[in-house]
Amino acid sequence: MGNSIAIDGPAGAGKSTIAKLLSKEMGYIYVDTGAMYRAIAVYFAQNNINPDDEDEINSAVENVDITIRYEDGVQQVILNGVNVTGLLRTEQIGNMASKTSKYGAVRSKLVDLQRKIAENADVVMDGRDIGTTVLPNATVKIYLTASCDARAGRRFDELVAKGEQCDLEAIKKDIEARDYQDMHRSISPLKQADDAVLVDTSEMSIEQVIVRLKEIINEKAG
Ligand code: DC
Repeated sequence: MGNSIAIDGPAGAGKSTIAKLLSKEMGYIYVDTGAMYRAIAVYFAQNNINPDDEDEINSAVENVDITIRYEDGVQQVILNGVNVTGLLRTEQIGNMASKTSKYGAVRSKLVDLQRKIAENADVVMDGRDIGTTVLPNATVKIYLTASCDARAGRRFDELVAKGEQCDLEAIKKDIEARDYQDMHRSISPLKQADDAVLVDTSEMSIEQVIVRLKEIINEKAG
């Protein structure tokens, strides 16, 4: 087992930005577990699988093979031999991933893969259940969160910067729905692990968050 830093938290809290930067600074690999749930969601979307039908999901999962590789330090997700990394970050796939990540068959397939990766490398791994389920003995556990307003505001700014039309209230509603779905499923719901350190980034810059996380890592692992 290598060293592992588990970062969990709700959608839009800045987990992936922070985990990427931190992994670079520490020389660890970054494992984006949300991308794996999104890759399975791509399979379901491409094959017209009904996300509300667990039997259909269970048999579809048997036909899915997900692997990870790194190109220039950037995680690539391979779905049945095809690199689908470029297809993962759409609202449609995010919603499909949120709906289908509640199923045991989906979760156990991906949790196994995540544990195997952490057995062989030092990792910064982000997701919803890393500290509670995937790596209960992680070296350091962080629960990264921010108010719904702050998360919606950041998403709004991102979309505006890309030149996309968007509505702040609709983004807020979407974030609330995603939080509810992730926190209320019966298997591995999003919650802070008892031994995780809470970091609320609502009023913090990216640089401040990195400084705070390094302090926590030095205290815990130091
Ligand atoms: O972090 P993200 O938006 O890429 O994740 C997409 C969905 O995948 C999220 O709504 C819930 C699910 N997910 C999960 O259930 N467990 C994880 N460890 C990571 C993501």
